[in-house]
Amino acid sequence: MSDELVTIHDASTEQLFEINEITQEFELKIDKLRKIQNYFMKQLKIGLEKDGQNLSMVPSFVTSVPTGNEIGTYLTLDLGGTNLRVCKVILEGGGKIHIIEGQLYEISEDLKTGDITVLFDFIADCVENLLSKEWGDSIQKNDKIDLGFTFSFPIIQTAINKGTLLKWTKGFTCTGAVGNDIVSILQESFNRKSLPVKVTALINDTVGTALAHAYSHPKVILGAILGTGTNGAYFERLENIKKLNHNFDSSDKMIINIEWGAFDSEKVILPITQYDNKLDKESNNPNSQIFEKLISGMYLGEITRNILLHLIDRSLLFNGLSSKSLNQHYAFETKYMSIIESDNTETLENTKQILENLFHISITNLTDRQIVKRICQLVGIRASRLSSIALASIISYCKMEGNECCIGIDGSLFEKYPNFSIRIYNTLKEFFGENADKIGLHYTCNGSSVGAALAAFSANQSKSKFKL
Ligand code: BGC
Repeated sequence: MSDELVTIHDASTEQLFEINEITQEFELKIDKLRKIQNYFMKQLKIGLEKDGQNLSMVPSFVTSVPTGNEIGTYLTLDLGGTNLRVCKVILEGGGKIHIIEGQLYEISEDLKTGDITVLFDFIADCVENLLSKEWGDSIQKNDKIDLGFTFSFPIIQTAINKGTLLKWTKGFTCTGAVGNDIVSILQESFNRKSLPVKVTALINDTVGTALAHAYSHPKVILGAILGTGTNGAYFERLENIKKLNHNFDSSDKMIINIEWGAFDSEKVILPITQYDNKLDKESNNPNSQIFEKLISGMYLGEITRNILLHLIDRSLLFNGLSSKSLNQHYAFETKYMSIIESDNTETLENTKQILENLFHISITNLTDRQIVKRICQLVGIRASRLSSIALASIISYCKMEGNECCIGIDGSLFEKYPNFSIRIYNTLKEFFGENADKIGLHYTCNGSSVGAALAAFSANQSKSKFKL
């Protein structure tokens, strides 16, 4: 058992028995992690050979690694979760980048679940705001501003400016998008408003993170997102991407978007518990994104809530009494786990506040609060250990064990969840021993915006190469 786990005082025999059961279910020893890693690496290879596999291994059509000398001004859009980000990005050369943030727009539930044209027309309005603020009258007649679009959902990409949506994730369900080219739909929204904008590049947020990090860190091997969703993108030799029927120079590399959130969606090897199955069944994408559902910020709170309700139903927590607020799906957000995990007060006062004031549990005792903290720890530790498998797989797959390398990581879990990054690092130590010291885990912010600008630059450079 991890020595991080909070001790539960004054628990009844029944409480202790159940908590030990759950603790064992959530514990992942290194042997199991290695088995999952082996399976993960096999899936990486299969995904490069054929389309339609468990890991999509999407070719990004981004082949150039940034040098820092790129120059140009781009509009960038970042859509992939709760917010839309619109920016003007100026690549100044000499490794310098200037980002002018337009505004962060919240994507309402209506926009997430309506028709895609409504969402993209809304995006066009947001782009228009930034255009008039930042470019104003300086746009010449017939000029088009290049836009890099970071769209962080599973697509099949056929060119740097073409991608068909495979499925939605992270709570989006817009109609009219699956099976269609996302760039064309967005371009139509711009055209309808006569905006002087051309969608030049379409990338995933992981591709953006890899690109942006490579701009200043040449030893980067992987860009990863550990946030609302999870995924990674790495640099692969073109000759290994067997499913690509293009005549590229075989010495080139291309960034591959792994789409690892879908890893083991057939539930062959992952340690799925009853609480995860409940979440999956009740989600709007059952049997899909199973790895993501064990790891990412959108789901950790809900897994925790499922366990708490299980204990309440057995009268092992809060005297068997739940509340209306706690009974609500997704009400127990991952941000509350963060507060509870970092609650080091003797009587767990911050935890008490959340449970009693926010969730209206009438009264909690210290044992209850220690149980809640233990559950948050179990779910949080498991998520970080599973995330480490994906990182360890890429390190081994790229034969980088023992070499200096780094990984650029963005996302709220990595940035804000207590101990998430330390737990990942410690797990990598279990995988690689002393060699783990050679792996840099770098928080990379703005990856999506900077990456989108670099991809738009790269698209313009490689037009002839890829016959866009
Ligand atoms: C999407 C990925 C994305 C990840 C992180 C997942 O749900 O399928 O495309 O990279 O979230 O945003």
